Formats: sequence, C-alpha cells, structure tokens
Amino acid sequence: MDATKVTIPDLLRKKPQGEKITMLTAYDYPIACLLDETGVDIILVGDSLGMVVLGYETTTPVTMEEMLHHARAVRRGVKRALLVGDMPFMSFHGSLTGTVENAGRFIQEAGCDAVKIEWKAGIEDVAKAIVDAGIPVMGHVGLTPQTAQAEGGLKVRGKDAESALRIITQAVALQEVGCFALVLECVPDVVAREITRKLSIPTIGIGAGPSCDGQVLVTYDVIGLFERFKPKFAKRYAEVAPAIRQAVSAFRLDVQQGRFPGPEQTFAMPEEELARLRHELGSS
Ligand code: KIV
Repeated sequence: MDATKVTIPDLLRKKPQGEKITMLTAYDYPIACLLDETGVDIILVGDSLGMVVLGYETTTPVTMEEMLHHARAVRRGVKRALLVGDMPFMSFHGSLTGTVENAGRFIQEAGCDAVKIEWKAGIEDVAKAIVDAGIPVMGHVGLTPQTAQAEGGLKVRGKDAESALRIITQAVALQEVGCFALVLECVPDVVAREITRKLSIPTIGIGAGPSCDGQVLVTYDVIGLFERFKPKFAKRYAEVAPAIRQAVSAFRLDVQQGRFPGPEQTFAMPEEELARLRHELGSS
C-alpha cells in the first residue's frame, strides 16, 4: 500500500474521480495503528469517545482535555491517514478567539491535521474564523449528536421537505466558508445525494446512503466492541466483544485451575545461579 501521507488535496481529487473516501474513528494507539496500516483515508478522533470509550450516556460531557488526551495517543499510531480531531460540545460555543484557540490545541498539542465541528446556529462564523486561522475544518450536518437531545433525540433528520431544504442550505453555507469536507449524518439517501451533487467538496456519510463521496463509521460498531446499542446504519464486520469474553473466561479458568502460567510463561534461573542462591539461602 502507498505509504504517502493523505492530504486534503488528495481527498478533494477523489470526488471528481469517483473514488470513495473511507473514514473511521480511533481513540487509542493500538486501534490507530491498525486503521492506519489498513489504509483508511481519514482517522477521526470523534467525540463518540464519550459514549463508546468513556461510558457517558451522550457525547455532551466530553471535554477538550479528554479529546486531546486521546488525540495524542491516536497521533502516535497514525503515519499515513489524515487525522481529524472532533471539537467537543462547548469548545466552539464561546468567543471566536476561544474557539480558534481550542481548534489550535488540536493541531499544536495533539498533532491533528484538521478539526471537525457540528452544525449549530451561527456555525458559519465559527467555521470561517477557524479556516481563516489556517486550520482545515470538516463540517457535520444532519443529525448532530451534541445537540440531538434538544432537537428530539437520535433520529433521522431531513425527512420532510422543509427540514431537508434546511440541511441542504447548511451544507452549502459550510462549503462557502471554506470547509474541506462535510459529514452527513442520518439523512435520507435523496438528501445526501442532492448535497453531494451540489457541493464540490466531498461528503462523507454515516447513515446517509450510498451516494456520498465517502463513508464513516464508529470503529467500535464495525468491530463489534460497543454493545450498548447498534445503530441501524452500522455494519458489523467482526464480533470482538464475544471474542474478548471468551479469552477472559479462559484466562480466569486457567488461573483458577492452575494451568496458567505454564512453563512457557515462567522464567527459569541458570543452574549455576540457582545453586549459589540455594547455598546462600541455606547458609543464612
Ligand atoms: O464522534 C464521532 O464519532 C462522529 C462520527 C460518527 C462522524 O462524529
């Protein structure tokens, strides 16, 4: 596989060439290494961290410090993919200066290549300020989990003509202020298709059908490690949780029944040293 680092121009080129973009989430070093090795284009340190790793009910409690801590670990494992840090709830809700500072922390302190922000009222100014500071921004429209509770829960957005038009307008607005790509989450296929047709920047869908320029999923859904619920749009390619349960039960039984550690996992002492030790112990 080509080991050259993925850049934003590379991603922009894929759209007219009809080459699909792949994006997955990572929150730690080992998963980051595995994703990078397999050649995904974009690795997102998503604020889904809050739900799938930290055990929160929603993504809203996730802080900048938590995001940066995990983003730094992911950075150490990523050599090739474009690394995007997800700006958590309230990190882009205060002054534009504070917002740009927070975006800058993802770049300077965690080594991310870009940040992602979810749609909210006034986001165009926020996105523009970050772009003007020289930080690439990925937008996110449709279902935006950070504000989902206030807007009726984790449900598909844009199912009526009026809300569909609103989402299309938001997508265009984010392109106009300089976003380099857009996540479309949980919108009907037809809405995603229209946005993808209208925009020159790539769309990356999650629950937005096959017409998008790329697809993103939460890695723990893909590998079957997050079991609290399974979103309809996610596809499981492995069942890691049952494999972990099986391994842990086998370990517990082996320890309880004296089968672990065996000779292969046990350190021996050279005969000569053993004799000396016995001698010392015997003479003390
Ligand atoms: O936080 C996240 O993982 C995300 C993706 C689902 C796009 O925003």
